[in-house]
Amino acid sequence: MPTIEPGSTGSTVVQADLLVVAATKDNKLTHAAAQVDAAMDGTLLAHLAKTAPVGGSGVFEGKAGQVAILPSFGRIGAGAVMVVGLGEADDVDGETVRRAAGVAARLSGGFRSVALDIGGGIDGAGRAAAEGFALGAYSFDRYLSEKPKQPDHATVTGATEEEIRRAAVYCEATIWARDLVNEPPSDRGPQVVADRAAGRAIEAGLKVEVFDEAAMAKEGMNGVLTVGKGSDSPPRFLVLTYEPEGAEGFLGLIGKGITFDSGGLSIKTSEGMETMKMDCSGGAAVIAAMTALPALATKTRVVAAVALAENMSGGGAVKPGDIIRHYGGRTSEVLNTDAEGRLVLADALAWMAEREPDAMVDVATLTGAMRVALGTKVAGVLTNRKDLCSELLDASARTGEPLWAMPLVDDYRSMISSPVADVKNVSGTRYGGAIVAALFLKDFVGDTPWAHLDIAGPAWVDKPEHYLSAGASGYGTRLLLDWITNRTG
Ligand code: BES
Ligand code: MN
Ligand code: ZN
Repeated sequence: MPTIEPGSTGSTVVQADLLVVAATKDNKLTHAAAQVDAAMDGTLLAHLAKTAPVGGSGVFEGKAGQVAILPSFGRIGAGAVMVVGLGEADDVDGETVRRAAGVAARLSGGFRSVALDIGGGIDGAGRAAAEGFALGAYSFDRYLSEKPKQPDHATVTGATEEEIRRAAVYCEATIWARDLVNEPPSDRGPQVVADRAAGRAIEAGLKVEVFDEAAMAKEGMNGVLTVGKGSDSPPRFLVLTYEPEGAEGFLGLIGKGITFDSGGLSIKTSEGMETMKMDCSGGAAVIAAMTALPALATKTRVVAAVALAENMSGGGAVKPGDIIRHYGGRTSEVLNTDAEGRLVLADALAWMAEREPDAMVDVATLTGAMRVALGTKVAGVLTNRKDLCSELLDASARTGEPLWAMPLVDDYRSMISSPVADVKNVSGTRYGGAIVAALFLKDFVGDTPWAHLDIAGPAWVDKPEHYLSAGASGYGTRLLLDWITNRTG
């Protein structure tokens, strides 16, 4: 991540390799951009309308996502000027600025120092710009012989020291989650993820517990154990605790940490498996958020449980027809081994509910059906409490991680009743798959206020755009942090 500092120098005099300013639709220059234009005797505006947007056709018009890069010819302190489009002036909000900064970051790799002044008077724009830039500069390049260039320093005008510090905490956590998920799945099985999480958590000052198979067997965590049986890399149950002094309240976070989902004996197609290293994205977001809490000094006690397993089809693999006795004693009939996420989450939810948090949220790449319902950019939330739902939707609006409420239709519960167990893990029809999965989970939460985030869509990015690089998005990390911060400070 580039180092980011508040910008204290005016845009016309700031010394940087690249200055980034903004224009809204039809090239209406923001205040800072107009000052630069004046210092350049009107040549910025004059040239803009004759410049093709980077990677696009036609001319720069200030549309959202458009970028133009012009030399400054020594008229201002910076060597070059980048103008980013913000789109319709009336529609500009934090997310517009975050995205524009992300675009700027992705196109400014050739410049070492970048000065951003793109806020245009919007509330919270400085922080959004810092976030967009930090996230947009990321790409997963560990295995590339030639690494893409990244700017190494940025200043952001209109952001305070503290806003930038918090933005950096959010983004560093998000990037940690992205890195974990992007890593080849054979290099980071359940034990490795537990170790990495533990390392980061201890450094952050959290309490860490890792349950191995023996400990899980003793506790009756048979959902996680059973899903992990088909793999040579044994499952783990990870518990992180953040307990600040004088803590008020108690929240629970639960993450699906399937380090690879082959489907098990109900095996996926080759194509269906291509992105299944992403199946630990919920767990990654939970771990990343937890380990960022100390730096944000939030006041609530938070406990996280991440169920880590690899879903494979080895000789010991769970078979259709098997019955699991989950943590707490409820049973499930496994009819499709590819509906494994709910099986591991059942243990984790029951375990967390037993600890009686004020509210708990699980994050999981749970169903392809959610991708069908909401597409690849929006996650779904299903919950047994309306107020919890609005809290999460509000957080989503602030962080720009799109979330939509889906109904937890009780009438569908009969679709997963089993003659031999308390519940079966698939309904036998494709219809309402995301809702049915959530209803399965609901059996294990009791009366605890609970929300389930199905992030199967936005956890993964096929085509990079604004502050999202290709691969893991880190979706949910900032949303959880924002939810916790805004709930109790
Ligand atoms: N991890 C998948 C869900 C998924 C699919 C996430 C695509 C991201 C992209 C999950 O374990 C799964 O396989 N779900 C099945 C459930 C079905 C068997 C009821 C699915 O969605 O096909
Ligand atoms: Mn699966
Ligand atoms: Zn899965």
